[in-house]
Amino acid sequence: MLARTAVRALANSRQFSSSAARQTKVAVLGAGGGIGQPLSLLLKNDPLVTSLSLYDIRGAPGVAADVSHIDTPSEVHGYAADKLDEALEGVKVVVIPAGVPRKPGMTRDDLFNTNASIVRDLAAAVGRVAPEAHILVISNPVNSTVPIVSAVLEKLGVYDPRRVFGVTTLDVVRAARFLGGIAGADPADTRVTVIGGHSGATIVPLLSQTEKGKGITGEVYDQLVHRIQFGGDEVVKAKDGAGSATLSMAYAGATFTHALLRGLSGEKGVITPTFVKSPLYEDQGIDFFSSNVELGPNGVEKIHPIGEISAQEEKLLAACLPDLKKNIEKGKAFVAQS
Ligand code: NAD
Ligand code: LMR
Repeated sequence: MLARTAVRALANSRQFSSSAARQTKVAVLGAGGGIGQPLSLLLKNDPLVTSLSLYDIRGAPGVAADVSHIDTPSEVHGYAADKLDEALEGVKVVVIPAGVPRKPGMTRDDLFNTNASIVRDLAAAVGRVAPEAHILVISNPVNSTVPIVSAVLEKLGVYDPRRVFGVTTLDVVRAARFLGGIAGADPADTRVTVIGGHSGATIVPLLSQTEKGKGITGEVYDQLVHRIQFGGDEVVKAKDGAGSATLSMAYAGATFTHALLRGLSGEKGVITPTFVKSPLYEDQGIDFFSSNVELGPNGVEKIHPIGEISAQEEKLLAACLPDLKKNIEKGKAFVAQS
């Protein structure tokens, strides 16, 4: 699925890259970190990226020097802590994995106190220096950091909801891998749409919409849903205090970035779940939601409805919405008070 799709898309986009998307400068903010380093490596290998701007409060020039020796055409520049504005000059896409990761026993919301202000300040710099950039938020808690970025840009008068994305691709990657394991199938054939948000019960996999997933019932179904919702905990526990998912996240982040670049370069039919400003549950006071989104030249082209779902998925969604609402409101309140 995603992996193979990404490889195929990468091959197709070699043609696109020479025409439509000639100058695509991508910045990674937090490039020295556990996600930032492998993400920078993968983006250096993306033919749709012509220039890579790596920024961190620690270590970005070293990562840039290292990555810049890879024999692909894109240019790479590293920027130290006091060079954020320079790092953002002329960027079209900004990927943000800056911030602290979880340790065992923590929820993503426990990261709010540290990461909210990091993301707020980075978003303000993007709004000032590169107001038309597309912003891809990886920093947790995504359910709150995306509303934070949006509210900061709104305050600056430069908010375009088509250009702000929460990266939920890791949930999609996990769902395909875990379902593929159970079904004895290639994950390329077990792609699952995952909707809602990015933490625990707010992660809602729509297994009923897949050929291999719709027949799964009972304990196997419950365990699979739990594993998709709490896959992050597995990694946090296994890393035993050394952080959370970095390599699979870098893969997921590069996959989503590549999908967006394909859309921006004019390719049609690029559709993937992502957490965006969304009308789907606005009537319930929830104005950010992840569902399948078509990506196009302006970013969000079309937000797809969730489609037909099973009774079990209705229950999962009912559990998701109140948590998601709280997370979104917390992010908005933080910016309002800032
Ligand atoms: P890490 O600690 O290894 O790296 C974070 C980096 O951010 C560090 O290099 C640090 O110097 C940098 N940083 C801190 N403040 C900064 C600032 N103001 N400007 C620029 N850089 C700054 O952490 P990690 O494992 O890479 O995780 C980063 C974030 O990504 C965490 O919040 C984690 O929870 C989140 N994450 C999200 C997903 C997802 O699916 N969206 C998956 C995995 C991790
Ligand atoms: C994940 O899903 O792996 C990330 O959100 C990191 C975490 O804290 O689990």
